[in-house]
Amino acid sequence: MNVVLFGPPGAGKGTQAKELSKHYGIPHISTGDILRANVSKGTDLGKKAAEYMNKGELVPDDVLIGIIKNRLAEPDCKAGFLLDGYPRTIPQADALSGILNDINMPLEVVLNITVPDEELVTRLSGRYSCKCGESYHIKFNPPKKAGICNVCGGELYQRDDDKEDVIRQRLVSYKKNTQPLIDYYEEKGILVNIDGTGGIDEVFGQIINVLDQYK
Ligand code: AP5
Ligand code: MG
Ligand code: ZN
Repeated sequence: MNVVLFGPPGAGKGTQAKELSKHYGIPHISTGDILRANVSKGTDLGKKAAEYMNKGELVPDDVLIGIIKNRLAEPDCKAGFLLDGYPRTIPQADALSGILNDINMPLEVVLNITVPDEELVTRLSGRYSCKCGESYHIKFNPPKKAGICNVCGGELYQRDDDKEDVIRQRLVSYKKNTQPLIDYYEEKGILVNIDGTGGIDEVFGQIINVLDQYK
């Protein structure tokens, strides 16, 4: 199945994608994780991306389109994929549709996870992340041992862009650049809304009810 997990910062895209990837055996492709890996390795791409990410702005489209084109060409995507954090602009969505047409794997469903703004701020300001890609919440999803990742034993940290002023800027950028994609995919008839306000397991249940139809 070829799926986009769509939604504002903090909606739960990464949390759900991790579990869905295990459940369906298809890769979770997070452009945010790919960019952060480059930032921590200090690559040229990472240095350029960090300037935008730390301000809560989008990294330029040409950079992202290149990243996603290479990633989708990898063999593990042949059985399908879960995109998280891409596309975020109309040009990115148009590029995606061209890339997928070329490999004859059209997008099947875009899951739009909806959560009110104030809840997003609460979720992001209490989030702790791990380098392995897991994320936790101090109240809603605490790790078994404070400050330590359940999965890899790594030390948890707060993302640089999870400070309240940057969170607000990410929400502004989402509304301006990314929200228009809801109409874009609705017109294509592949948008499904998911109420993201319930607990993590409850949201997961709603999503697999939808995705089981595409197995
Ligand atoms: P990215 O890493 O994609 O960040 P984001 O979209 O801002 O989304 P988040 O990762 O913050 O939220 P999420 O929906 O994954 O939530 P999570 O599951 O962690 O992008 C970062 C930056 O990279 C961008 O700002 C941009 O600069 C750049 N970038 C990336 N892609 C780009 C692109 N395509 N184009 C241009 N620039 C790009 O959950 C959040 C918290 O809530 C966690 O603590 C979690 O435990 C908790 N939680 C999750 N679900 C629930 C629930 N149901 N109930 C209670 N708590 C919950
Ligand atoms: Mg994420
Ligand atoms: Zn970890």
